Amino acid sequence: MTEITGRTRVFAILADPIAQVKAPQGLNRLMAERGVDGVMVPLHVAAADLPTVVAGLRATQSFGGAIVTVPHKTAIVPLLDAVSDAARLVGAVNAVRREPDGRLVGEILDGAGFVAGLRAAGHDPRGASAYLAGAGGAANAIAFALAEAGVGRLTVHNRTPARVEDLFARLRRLHPALPLASAADPAGHDLVVNATSLGLRPDDPLPLDPAGLAAGQLVAEIIMQPAKTPLLAAAAARGCRTHPGLPMLEGQLALMADFLRMRP
Ligand code: ATR
Repeated sequence: MTEITGRTRVFAILADPIAQVKAPQGLNRLMAERGVDGVMVPLHVAAADLPTVVAGLRATQSFGGAIVTVPHKTAIVPLLDAVSDAARLVGAVNAVRREPDGRLVGEILDGAGFVAGLRAAGHDPRGASAYLAGAGGAANAIAFALAEAGVGRLTVHNRTPARVEDLFARLRRLHPALPLASAADPAGHDLVVNATSLGLRPDDPLPLDPAGLAAGQLVAEIIMQPAKTPLLAAAAARGCRTHPGLPMLEGQLALMADFLRMRP
């Protein structure tokens, strides 16, 4: 970290709980590498206090922006001055930039981070037939990012089907030409993504039926810990290529730094 002076821009991560967050290490290292006079600090903010904290950050002239995570990603949207189309339709942001005039602008980068991580590993989703398990917050962000990245078609499966229909209605507003389908079987798709929370706990069931997996498919996770989830193990056993969850975070760091204008 560079020396903190009166000119140092302050960035924050807003979360509750806070102890597990990883963005400060990654972004402070990245700012040091880029020679940016900035620092990211953890701000432990309870849900009820978010409006007060956002008002304070808006008024803080040395504040450059924030990373936003659980439980604030949706609640912060109406407190901001502007959000991107994707963030509005996903209904969540995970990065907020403070403009010099104090306006707070929100963006959702989780999905773009996932796609950046895929590309960094040599997998371009453009034109792919993609299958997504899940329709929660993370899955929404990834669905919009896959559409943005130019997948050829998108199939989504979720335990609660109504959430898939709701996601499709919002996706169509931004990507009306993308073929969408709802089906449980991942067979025949080039790219299979688990964006449910299944795999976090060792006794979780698999998020999809591995009988539909075969060599030639790429199976990707958003679960970061464990690195080799039961789904990835099952996919590897069936000859699929696998892509773990961690690159999604690594892919996001550069996107976050650019969005927050972390420049010398
Ligand atoms: P996140 O923001 O991390 O995506 P979320 O919005 O709560 O969290 O979404 C969790 C996802 O995992 C959802 O797709 C959820 O399915 P439902 O929409 O049916 O709840 C899925 N999920 C969680 N536990 C599950 C389980 N036991 N079986 C199947 N799907 C599960």
